[in-house]
Amino acid sequence: MLHEVVVEHPDGGLAIIDPVIDRDPENEEFAQLRNGYAYPSVTQVLRMSHMSMTQPRLFESASPSGPLRSNAPTFVNNMTLPVHRWFRFSAGYSAEWVVNSISDFLTCAGQSKAVILDPFAGSGTTLLASSALGCDSFGWEAQDFIFRVADAKVQCSDADPEMILQSAHSVIEASKNTGANRCNDQEPKLLQKCYSEETLAELRGLQEALNGATIDMDDSTWKLLWLALVSTLRPASHVGTAQWQYVLPNKKKINTVGPSEGFMQKARMIAGDISVIRSKLSGNMSILQHDARQPSKVPKDSIDIVVTSPPYANNYDYADATRLEMTFLGEVAAYSDLKRVREPLIHACSQHMVGYDASAAIEDPLLTPIVDRLGPIYEELSSVRSTRGGKKAYHAMVVAYFLDMARVWQYLRAAVRPGGKALFVVGDSAPYGVHTPVDELHGELAVAAGFESYRFTKTRDRNIKWKNRKHRVPLKEGVLEVQG
Ligand SMILES: C[S@@+](CC[C@H](N)C(=O)[O-])C[C@H]1O[C@@H](n2cnc3c(N)ncnc32)[C@H](O)[C@@H]1O
Repeated sequence: MLHEVVVEHPDGGLAIIDPVIDRDPENEEFAQLRNGYAYPSVTQVLRMSHMSMTQPRLFESASPSGPLRSNAPTFVNNMTLPVHRWFRFSAGYSAEWVVNSISDFLTCAGQSKAVILDPFAGSGTTLLASSALGCDSFGWEAQDFIFRVADAKVQCSDADPEMILQSAHSVIEASKNTGANRCNDQEPKLLQKCYSEETLAELRGLQEALNGATIDMDDSTWKLLWLALVSTLRPASHVGTAQWQYVLPNKKKINTVGPSEGFMQKARMIAGDISVIRSKLSGNMSILQHDARQPSKVPKDSIDIVVTSPPYANNYDYADATRLEMTFLGEVAAYSDLKRVREPLIHACSQHMVGYDASAAIEDPLLTPIVDRLGPIYEELSSVRSTRGGKKAYHAMVVAYFLDMARVWQYLRAAVRPGGKALFVVGDSAPYGVHTPVDELHGELAVAAGFESYRFTKTRDRNIKWKNRKHRVPLKEGVLEVQG
């Protein structure tokens, strides 16, 4: 998971920031940065990706050697790639890196095909990259909204571009007779803050037209137009709505796109990409809404290689990240509703820790292989916490995180064939300045689950750029390679 985001300075320069570290409201330097920088608008993103609309590069390799040759494997790279660019998922990783990693595996194993599993599939990057290499793949994703994004994307090889365009036009036409009747006062407060009355009415019109029974379209077309609509929500808002910073109602954006215009642009992009890449996606893609901590739904010993980026133990809230979309869709109303969304997710943020009994969890036998290292971190975080105003439950979070991941490693061991492999893009963390060697603890859990060995290769440093941090612990991100 590589949470970098490109922000644009009014003077035209670009800066890459790490939203997980840098969104910390206590980080003064980032606050200054936020005030001086504007977020890229959809028009700018579309302009940037226009060339690849006509000549998609389709996951082409970046450079010649090893899984680390794409040393900035962020989702930002994906915004120029067909299919991947349909929904900007800031926690996503680079499709090119996935293609390179699988290609290297095939070369080393002397195989022309492999079966791939991504237990934390997010927006479906691994599945689409696998399919482009002719490999069959399975993905699990537990967050309901993110699952539907991936599900829509992997449908693309069944969809007819002409039908998508025609149906999009019909939706826009039908929307003109709907939506406007809705009373703005009845809209959730969050939406009232994010949209003007007119914009929200237009969005509701599109939604009602899409959900209405009058336009005849098949299931995959409907899902792809649903994706076109939900991916227009943030670009159509005049306030700060990047996922990594959730929603900043007081932060005004310079550029927005009209809902119907944005919806149609996205539908055109989807149809254009499909017509070019459909024949190139030859591997089967199977995405399941599934909690990776539950017994595996893939046959034993059936997977050649796991390629994934799990949640990190760094307080990123995958429920809150899509609150705007879920609110628009009527699936959450209040902040407290996010509790239900978090339930099937790995414990990776302090908001998820209410009522969690960490003192019992740390005694769990699944944590025995790492308790000598995790125990002192837990103790130190418990004591630092009492000195901090926010009293965040990071001590419980790290314990819960590794207990969850211990379960996942058990199920992965069962799914991966002997001699197979797992590649995890991971980053370490230092909540309240207490360093947690996430890569090593993952590796130890993998070996305890029955894998043979692990090694970690750093791809980049984190938390070293800014001066005014609350803590100065240098962090890193890289690839954990587990051999089985
Ligand atoms: C770092 S993101 C993966 C992004 C993905 N590589 C992509 O490019 O879109 C981690 C994903 O794990 C999902 N997740 C969290 N807990 C999960 C669980 N228990 N089972 C399955 N997925 C989970 C999150 O919702 C999130 O989408």
